[in-house]
Amino acid sequence: MADDARRDAAYAAGQERILFCGSCHGKDGNSKRDYIPNLAGQHPLYLFEQFEKFGNGQREDYVMSNLAKVLTVEDRINIAVYYSQQEANPRTSPAPALVDAGRAKFQAKCAACHGQNAEGFRNMPRLAGQPAEYIKIALKRFKDMDPAVQSSPMIGIAAPLTAGDIEELAAFLTTL
Ligand code: HEC
Ligand code: HEC
Repeated sequence: MADDARRDAAYAAGQERILFCGSCHGKDGNSKRDYIPNLAGQHPLYLFEQFEKFGNGQREDYVMSNLAKVLTVEDRINIAVYYSQQEANPRTSPAPALVDAGRAKFQAKCAACHGQNAEGFRNMPRLAGQPAEYIKIALKRFKDMDPAVQSSPMIGIAAPLTAGDIEELAAFLTTL
């Protein structure tokens, strides 16, 4: 990322490779469906690591697991660079009344890792602007310890969250 010429070349190659991904994740990385995550503004290291996880079975999703197997290491790097450079847009909350409660919970329990504005850092994903539906799916999955093989710090963190906490956090994060 520090070398301008190499980053630009990776960006251009990534842009070509993402035509197909764009039908779900958006050409600019802002997802087209609420159950699909944004990739825009996500750290390249996080994106790259998720390809590894889909590829080696630590994380499973029918489409993504199959895709991860056909992408070369070069593709994965280029795509990660491309999407990391896109801007994630805030969304309208489906539950605006819950946003303030979610903000307080986020500051208390999540900001230390995900950043004050949920902007993410390295392998701690950006959460700002993610569709509320996706945040809920992701938190429930950690709560249910699925996939259990994943030794994620999120498993312990999601365990005590109630359904109400999850609604509030998701309502808040999508608006950032
Ligand atoms: C048919 C729709 C579809 C297509 C096409 C698709 N994805 Fe996905 N992608 C998903 C869904 C759904 C998830 C969430 C899976 C889950 O819940 O674990 C996902 C998750 C991801 C994640 C993890 C993001 C996160 O926040 O954890 C990355 C990275 C990703 N996709 C990259 C890609 C790339 C790169 C391509 C193109 C090569 C692509 N996807 C094509 C549907 C799609
Ligand atoms: C100790 C650091 C830490 C804390 C505290 C933390 N997280 Fe995470 N979180 C992570 C890491 C690391 C990941 C990446 C997933 C993985 O590696 O398993 C993650 C992933 C996630 C994801 C999935 C994002 C995606 O794109 O798929 C969500 C949603 C999430 N965290 C929400 C939260 C919420 C809400 C809180 C507060 C209740 C929280 N996290 C607190 C470290 C943390």
